[in-house]
Amino acid sequence: MSRMRGMIIAIDGPAASGKGTIAKLVAEHFGFHCLDTGLLYRAVARDVERAGFRLEDTWAAVSYARGLDAATLDDPALRGAEAGDRASVVAKIPEVRRALLKYQRAFAERPPGAVLDGRDIGTVVCPDADAKLFVTATAEVRAERRFSELRARGDTTTGYAAVLAAIRERDARDSGRADAPMKMAADADLLDTTQLGIEAAFDAAVGLIKRKIGQQGAA
Ligand code: CDP
Repeated sequence: MSRMRGMIIAIDGPAASGKGTIAKLVAEHFGFHCLDTGLLYRAVARDVERAGFRLEDTWAAVSYARGLDAATLDDPALRGAEAGDRASVVAKIPEVRRALLKYQRAFAERPPGAVLDGRDIGTVVCPDADAKLFVTATAEVRAERRFSELRARGDTTTGYAAVLAAIRERDARDSGRADAPMKMAADADLLDTTQLGIEAAFDAAVGLIKRKIGQQGAA
């Protein structure tokens, strides 16, 4: 098959690992398009609830996934950890995942290149990506990051323990589901950001990607 597509960089990992920020900076660095695929699942959950259905309603979730309007992905209502928690409920449904595949794959092929971040980019959406990173950090450190974000937004009611519990619950739901569970692809590079600030994590990501792409060029 001829390779008309651009370069594809897959970035997966759990909530608050830093993958979204890293993906945006990496895309800017290389001049590539960037897709936060979590927004697709967040938008499906939003549309299901707005229409008055339960998130567990498979029929509703599948039909809203099939009819998703990508122009609505910059909706501020999609931000925040709660929208992410709701997204992980519809993300368990295999037909929802299948309905969102085509859009993600078409985006990934956009020249000159694309960075996609999510849970299953390196394993399911783009198994032939040119570089794959699995970005992680301990649950405690990820909870601290979420907790500081909440404080910065003026939320003083949610305690650290509740944030940590929510992170653990989401990790379990995303890793434990049968279809496209969150897991590191065999050919991905691990980037642990537990001890890294965003600058250092970005530098490490670019280093790993360049090494991977360089190896391919030499092959
Ligand atoms: O930013 P954060 O990591 O908290 O969330 P997100 O990346 O926006 O993802 C929200 C939820 O969508 C995740 O917990 C997953 O359940 C689901 N998701 C997925 O299943 N597959 C993806 N490629 C991206 C997100």
